[in-house]
Amino acid sequence: MRLDRYLANLKYGTRNEITKKINGKKVTVNGKIITDSRYKVDTIKDKVTFEGLDIYYKETILLMLNKPSGVISANKDGLHKTVLDLIGEPFNRFDLKIAGRLDIDTEGLILLTNDGKLLHKIISPNKDVYKKYYVKVESKFDSSKLLNEFQIKDGRDYMFTPLLPKVEEINDNEFYLSIKEGKFHQVKRMVEHFNNKVVYLKRVSIGNIDLDESLEKGRYKEIIDYEI
Ligand code: URA
Repeated sequence: MRLDRYLANLKYGTRNEITKKINGKKVTVNGKIITDSRYKVDTIKDKVTFEGLDIYYKETILLMLNKPSGVISANKDGLHKTVLDLIGEPFNRFDLKIAGRLDIDTEGLILLTNDGKLLHKIISPNKDVYKKYYVKVESKFDSSKLLNEFQIKDGRDYMFTPLLPKVEEINDNEFYLSIKEGKFHQVKRMVEHFNNKVVYLKRVSIGNIDLDESLEKGRYKEIIDYEI
């Protein structure tokens, strides 16, 4: 990839600004100053620095975030902090997308990736990727009722029948629920269908990726070896 494009992709500036920096000897590749913007970078092998700092580059980034309540799953929001606001250097330089949103008051596992195919695999209900939630409800509840077929409203107020979930009861008020889709307020609506109310919701896994419980709320880490 051309050096100027590589740096622009990583948000080091506009192509013009970057060309000036390259001409001004602010960029090295494998320890050598490069002054030609058209220089071809081997994005896997080459070590690039910008103004003296090492550049972190990878084609595919996958991050696990422990979302706290009060933060929204959107790219930008004038009012609230977003999950992307929690991501710092070097990962905030990549075009990360949220693989399955959570409500503002829901906590737990959020995956972020710049890989469109991976994103699709995670969020498409047909891909057999279960999203598992820890659910606490207001009053006594027989969670096995959720295994019956029933309809709820999706985000656009159309009725839909959730695909068969998995349920693991903890006690009368708490259980784990694994669902394949991620429709608007789906877990809350499934519980409301049975005249109960979710009082706490936390996503604990997506497919075979479990939330690392040692991650404090608001913290994230890169997942290096994964298969979903
Ligand atoms: N279901 C919900 O109701 N809310 C979430 O945040 C996730 C799933």
